Amino acid sequence: MKIILPSLIIFLLLNLSQSVLAAERDQTLFNQGKTVYEKVCSACHNYLPPPKNAPPMLGVSGHYHQTFTDREQAVSHIANFIQQPTKEKSKLPPMAINTWGLMPPLALPLSAEEVQAVSYWVWEIYNIECAEPTKLFFCQHFQRK
Ligand code: HEC
Repeated sequence: MKIILPSLIIFLLLNLSQSVLAAERDQTLFNQGKTVYEKVCSACHNYLPPPKNAPPMLGVSGHYHQTFTDREQAVSHIANFIQQPTKEKSKLPPMAINTWGLMPPLALPLSAEEVQAVSYWVWEIYNIECAEPTKLFFCQHFQRK
């Protein structure tokens, strides 16, 4: 009993915190964002390395997590950037623009809803893929700083 009860409490708390965290993600918005990524952004951005002709999205997400702690601020910065990219707004290391050039304006403008959804998706992929520190070597790279 002495050991079982605390383990049971820890077990319940872990489950509870996991479901609270999962509930925090707006899955509908996330899925909408993924569709926009597949339709529009994946022309240049692979999800993972090797890069196509732009930095891979999980890396972009990692850099945004190094710069921002607040999801709302990060998402609104991404939304602003993709609608009108400028060098000054960039949160990637300078080598990104040096290597690939500044992201060009999107060929077809997205609706406000699509912009919000895809920006949300960019932020959340890091949370999903890098939830466990040892999951991907790629994620550890961003945690070192
Ligand atoms: C025509 C190619 C192209 C397309 C299409 C494209 N991007 Fe990019 N994107 C780039 C390049 C090149 C960079 C790296 C240089 C830079 O940061 O501007 C970049 C950088 C970014 C960054 C990092 C900005 C920063 O802080 O520097 C984000 C975020 C981003 N893209 C999101 C998107 C999203 C979301 C879409 C789809 C809606 C998209 N991109 C479509 C080429 C593209």
